[in-house]
Amino acid sequence: MSVPIPDPALDIFLPRFLKADGEASRLAATRVLRPRPSDLFYDVEPTVPDDHGLSAVGFAEFAVSPSVRIVVDTRAVVPCEVQSLIYVMREAEARTGVSVAGVHATHEIDPSAGLSITTSDASLVETARDAWHAVRALSSVSDVESRSAPKLYGSKLRLTSLLAAAVCSNLPAGAPILDAMAGTGIVSRMLSGRFRVSVNDANAYGAVFARSQGAALMRDADELIERLRQVASRNYDALVGLAPARFATEADFFHGDLSDEQFVKYRDFCREPVVAPSERPPCGAPYQLCLARYANSYFGVAQCAQLDSLRAAIDEATPEEAPERDLLLSALLMAATVCSTGPHFAQPRKLTLASFRDTIERRARSVVWEFELAVRRMASRPPLRHPIEQATQGDWRDAVTRFAQGSGSRKPAAVYFDPPYSKFQYSRYYHLLNVLISYDYPSIHGVGRYPPLADRFSSKFEHNSKPALSEFEDAFDLCRELGLRIFVSYSNRGLVPTDALVDAMSRRFAQVVEFSDKIRHHSQGTRLGDHLGYVTELVLSARND
Ligand SMILES: C[S@@+](CC[C@H](N)C(=O)[O-])C[C@H]1O[C@@H](n2cnc3c(N)ncnc32)[C@H](O)[C@@H]1O
Repeated sequence: MSVPIPDPALDIFLPRFLKADGEASRLAATRVLRPRPSDLFYDVEPTVPDDHGLSAVGFAEFAVSPSVRIVVDTRAVVPCEVQSLIYVMREAEARTGVSVAGVHATHEIDPSAGLSITTSDASLVETARDAWHAVRALSSVSDVESRSAPKLYGSKLRLTSLLAAAVCSNLPAGAPILDAMAGTGIVSRMLSGRFRVSVNDANAYGAVFARSQGAALMRDADELIERLRQVASRNYDALVGLAPARFATEADFFHGDLSDEQFVKYRDFCREPVVAPSERPPCGAPYQLCLARYANSYFGVAQCAQLDSLRAAIDEATPEEAPERDLLLSALLMAATVCSTGPHFAQPRKLTLASFRDTIERRARSVVWEFELAVRRMASRPPLRHPIEQATQGDWRDAVTRFAQGSGSRKPAAVYFDPPYSKFQYSRYYHLLNVLISYDYPSIHGVGRYPPLADRFSSKFEHNSKPALSEFEDAFDLCRELGLRIFVSYSNRGLVPTDALVDAMSRRFAQVVEFSDKIRHHSQGTRLGDHLGYVTELVLSARND
């Protein structure tokens, strides 16, 4: 076999094997194949948009070792899928010890990806086929699942391939895994296609999204929605009764022109509170938390009344412990994020002449309509292949300890950490979602209308790199002690430099591997990343067994 020359254009396809001394070993032998290697894949067409700048590369060859070579059409794959396959082949070969001397044959693995493997060991072909299809199957998220995933900062919806690549190649099917910081719950949903998943998040919104992944409606969606509508409209009418002129004036703005003069009138309108923010209103009074706290800041007047009224309807129509309550609360949170005036809840969007049109358009959106849409979408998601084993709300420490004593005692088992990466404080960005769940009429403070600081969970992964790194070290120590494998999502734009993170891992775990992908990011309306908007997203896997 001729020794291929490493081609830097193909580096993106290589997993990095990291060592404690800071060295990273990669695969040395890669090359771009031009023209296409054979007629074998003659009808392969590029299927993936060229987000990675790979359209110029086409077919490429990766020599995993002198006895195993992979050929793939780079235009038809996501780089981390190849990283995973290389890693799995290397591991399998290390176990079986394939000899260079046997007769080498080329085997087709996946014609849609132009993927073949050349080896003398037929057992490796099956390993490659299983590994490849496992990653592809696990990472595929259906349209309805994608549409019913909340669009929140930090969601890994666009990184399911990267996660699937890392986890499938390091954990056998059916093994227990804890999603310790589940956020929108999309990763838990995805992982449940192959593993036994437990879920946790420190914030109430994350815990509700997590629990709702496996929740189904106990009754017909139309019947439930009709019942919710009836209760909600009673509450809504009572709220309109508290300030009828304010509701009528807002409706006039929604149907009026958008002149400078109207802007001034609307600005003045927004300065007047609709109802005074009180503590919990007396028994029998309509639900009014949002109307009293967020009207004309994060939402319009009618939108706040709709949020309050749906929240009242959820309380009346579903008992505390009913699983469908989590689904309905999730739908309410999604409606709130879709209808909010600005991109986040850290502070209300400023009303200016320039933002007037967009503000009016957003405040005219129907919360009820978005809620019903979210309910129907969530209810029609495919059922989870393995039900979520346990869902908790709390700090990762408690969740990991509990997991290790429960389902995580069956080894191998793993914990997935996806902590906040940035100095953005989640509690500032998502306080409103937590308040919608607790609905406990908190006092509100500051420009962002936050509940008291003492009532907001503050994560050590945020703010500063030193405490964040030390929090990581605590997590690594605990998992090592408990014999758990770990996966960590992080980015090259994170607070903790990735070198420091890798170093902390490789001092504690015998095997650390880095899987990566480059994606374009937007965060809370701001573009992040390099000059082209690209961020390198990593999943680091570490294990001692
Ligand atoms: C980047 S998001 C996770 C996103 C999630 N994987 C997804 O795809 O939607 C980070 C999450 O970590 C949670 N979190 C932060 N600190 C935590 C801690 N100490 N323990 C548990 N959860 C924490 C936050 O509430 C937030 O939901």
